[in-house]
Amino acid sequence: MDSEVSAKRREFLPFSPPSIGEEEIREVVDTLRSGWITTGPKTQRFEEEFARKIGASSALALNSCTAALHTALVVAGIGPGDEVITTPLTFAASVNVLEHVGAQPVLVDVEPDTLNIDPRAVEAAITSRTKAILPVHYSGHPVDLDPIQALAAAHGLTIIEDAAHALPALYKGRRIGSGGNPVAFSFYATKNLATGEGGMLAATPEFLDRARVMSLHGMSRDAWKRYDQRGTWAYDVGVPGFKYNMSDIQAALGLAQLAKLDRLQDRRRHIVAAYGGAFADLADRLQLPVERPTVEHAWHLYVIRIHADALQIDRDTFIRELKKRNIGSSVHFTPIHIHSYYRDKYKYDPEDFPISYDSFRRMISLPLSPKMADQDVADVIEAVRDIVQRHRT
Ligand SMILES: Cc1ncc(COP(=O)(O)O)c(C=O)c1O
Repeated sequence: MDSEVSAKRREFLPFSPPSIGEEEIREVVDTLRSGWITTGPKTQRFEEEFARKIGASSALALNSCTAALHTALVVAGIGPGDEVITTPLTFAASVNVLEHVGAQPVLVDVEPDTLNIDPRAVEAAITSRTKAILPVHYSGHPVDLDPIQALAAAHGLTIIEDAAHALPALYKGRRIGSGGNPVAFSFYATKNLATGEGGMLAATPEFLDRARVMSLHGMSRDAWKRYDQRGTWAYDVGVPGFKYNMSDIQAALGLAQLAKLDRLQDRRRHIVAAYGGAFADLADRLQLPVERPTVEHAWHLYVIRIHADALQIDRDTFIRELKKRNIGSSVHFTPIHIHSYYRDKYKYDPEDFPISYDSFRRMISLPLSPKMADQDVADVIEAVRDIVQRHRT
């Protein structure tokens, strides 16, 4: 039951465009002119500055968050027969990597407010085959890590955190990525820090020494320097590794983005506050995202959930109505157990994870990007309010 639309923006507002400025362009051009365009000095500098920014002891730049998760699983020795507990409400990459190493994903449902993995459900799912827990900091809101950390300590489990959305987030005053667990970040085009494609693995120096080798063909350390004055042609392959390294072109983007990250985050928070204020009186129609008092949210996504019984339209119609008003939006995520590969392999029923499934059917990610002008924010607010107004029960 789509409606005629009166007020409409002239141009389509994309859901999450990157904030690329002259600084990024200058830094990339500098790399192109330098004669060194693959992994090199800028990648090294990006790793050091990133680690300093989040308080990690060290960091390894890779070509995606998926690569970081895969590498971390291999270095942690997760393999066939092992069970890894994770959330259904994530991007497929978090779970695909478990299939890549032959481990079995064990999905448990999320908490209704944050949509993060529920520590009590994790505890209930631990078996003698459980080797690791893979929490995902959904939308940039940190997972409740303390109880998960306690479970891991009690049962001798590895924790590998998917922080694709969580740069820069704080849990109980601690930066996500600073605690010593292997933590994977994403710099995909839509992320809070974007290098087109890219990722970072934060972990202890010992873990990263092995990850560095595994992520570059299994070649002996510093092999990337073999074409440099300092390097030698000789290297040894001690393990059949991957080709997951970051290039200096990506690192150039990363360095420029890192330098302005605080400013970009301020803008995200400003937009989130505007949305929160403008939708506060719609609480009986729209469920707004939360920020628990113990955390600082990275606000990668702004996910609202419609109260289906208080509106005459469903989620998909709401998204179509936004589009008619030239507002882009998205859904994060189709839960893992709904995708045909996982549904068929593990014989999942949609209702196996009722909070994830119910939330999925009601959720819409509204545009959130530091690039949005005040007028863009006002247009989103007006569109959402208009849709709710026209379709209230
Ligand atoms: C939760 C989550 N994990 C992992 C990834 C994979 O990131 P990348 O594209 O950098 O491999 C994404 C990407 O969107 C994601 O949303």
